Amino acid sequence: MLIIHKISELQSQLQAERQKGHTIGLVPTMGALHEGHASLVRRSVSENDVTVVSIFLNPTQFNDKADLERYPRTLEADCQLLEKCGAQIVFAPSVEEIYPEPDTRSFSYPPTDSVMEGAMRPGHFNGVCQIVSKLFSYTDPDRGYFGEKDYQQIAVIKRMVTDLGFKLQIISCPVIREESGLARSSRNTLLTADERVLAANIYRVMKESLALNASVQQTHDYVVDTINAIDGLEVQYFSIVDGDTLADVSSWDEADSIVGCITVFCGSKPIRLIDHIRYK
Ligand code: PAF
Repeated sequence: MLIIHKISELQSQLQAERQKGHTIGLVPTMGALHEGHASLVRRSVSENDVTVVSIFLNPTQFNDKADLERYPRTLEADCQLLEKCGAQIVFAPSVEEIYPEPDTRSFSYPPTDSVMEGAMRPGHFNGVCQIVSKLFSYTDPDRGYFGEKDYQQIAVIKRMVTDLGFKLQIISCPVIREESGLARSSRNTLLTADERVLAANIYRVMKESLALNASVQQTHDYVVDTINAIDGLEVQYFSIVDGDTLADVSSWDEADSIVGCITVFCGSKPIRLIDHIRYK
């Protein structure tokens, strides 16, 4: 497995692969890899000749500096996991390599990027589009792999791909959960053992809501009230939205695909966890 830090080296390596007629899969990550990332990498390895995994903790998508500072950094362990998954190239550039100048581009794809995480974390999706568009330009992949754990992120990236005319296929991969139902996330390492048990209630309650046979508003209120009643959990938002546009829905027949997206503060630090559930 090659570990590359420079854009020019990545490009010449990939040019050689393309000349051999090889297909390229890209798995963008910010490191602190877990089984969720491993599932994306394995899928890319099975569908492409060459899999590139980028590891870059992108500062422009963090609107909260403290969040960026405490984000886990585990490059050595990440590379060991990637080697086991069969990735051929790890691209781990420095911040200066990616942003020699401040990136002044702005992206706007409402409502996908303006609701939920977009409203709570101003500038977040702009930063995501900045880095992901750069990675797509450097690697020119046939396929890009993203976890459905960040449901909204995939919707925004799909809009950007259409807008900028990138040729790749976006492959969205299912959430990988712990046995308790807790969605795997790099942030889970910041939870204590007790908080992990607490956090498992988020998916449990959302799953319960599938069986309610109630209106959208009643389903919403059930999820929010039940989670808020658990000591140590506090819902920041729970939005029941069109699964493609992410616009709010008020009845179940308003869209072909409907998803509930949630963000919950867990524990005393607190750690912000996101998850979602598909209603149809
Ligand atoms: O999902 C993530 O880890 C990041 O938002 C991504 C797509 C790697 C861009 O930095």
